[in-house]
Amino acid sequence: MGRLDPRGELWPPFGAMKLFLDSADLSEIREAASMGLIDGVTTNPTLVAKVGRPLREIVREIAEVVDGPISAEVISTDYEGMIREGRELAAIHPNVVVKIPLTADGLRAVKRFAQDGIRTNVTLCFSPSQALLAAKAGATYISPFIGRIDDVSAEGMNLLRQIVRIFKNYQFNTQVLAASIRHPLHVVEAAEIGADVATLPYKVLTQLLRHPLTEVGLAAFLADAQRIPTSQK
Ligand code: G3P
Repeated sequence: MGRLDPRGELWPPFGAMKLFLDSADLSEIREAASMGLIDGVTTNPTLVAKVGRPLREIVREIAEVVDGPISAEVISTDYEGMIREGRELAAIHPNVVVKIPLTADGLRAVKRFAQDGIRTNVTLCFSPSQALLAAKAGATYISPFIGRIDDVSAEGMNLLRQIVRIFKNYQFNTQVLAASIRHPLHVVEAAEIGADVATLPYKVLTQLLRHPLTEVGLAAFLADAQRIPTSQK
């Protein structure tokens, strides 16, 4: 649950940060789902191409495994093509969220989809001004690419901080989805900043759980437990 801000408004309006898996690999998705740790899935053309199967087939299978939002990206770049493709993707399953690139045609399509009740995830966001426009267009999610900004020696988390601050000022209904996550600290910092969602590769999801001191401590407990007389176990 969110907390009340000084104005008595519930913040964040969407509750605790959700974790989505950033993958189109059904074996990873099944494993993560069985751990009970993911609330949804995001895909993109690169992730789908790595699996080498038709997008619609993958989305249908994901929908059978994860009961949460599934982002599937259009590859059309013109408004009419995005609308046509987005409607086809949305028709696959009610959990489908249409992923749209942050372009002029893309935001025009987002506005239309918002009117039609089709959820959207605006992707490839690299500036707070882009995020502001996506929220005004009625995007369901905005995906700032933290890792790719870090990759060019800038501070990806600053972008996330700015977007969360701007969205809080105006109580936008667009959820901030921290994307392009490279390691567990990105997830921790995204939670500290107040992102609504973080989408992470399977490798990072498993890293969140592990700490060497937990493993060492558990081994010591189990070794000491062997010295407890059986009647007191
Ligand atoms: O799927 C969206 C985003 O998380 C991909 O980021 O930088 O790992 O390709 P990246």
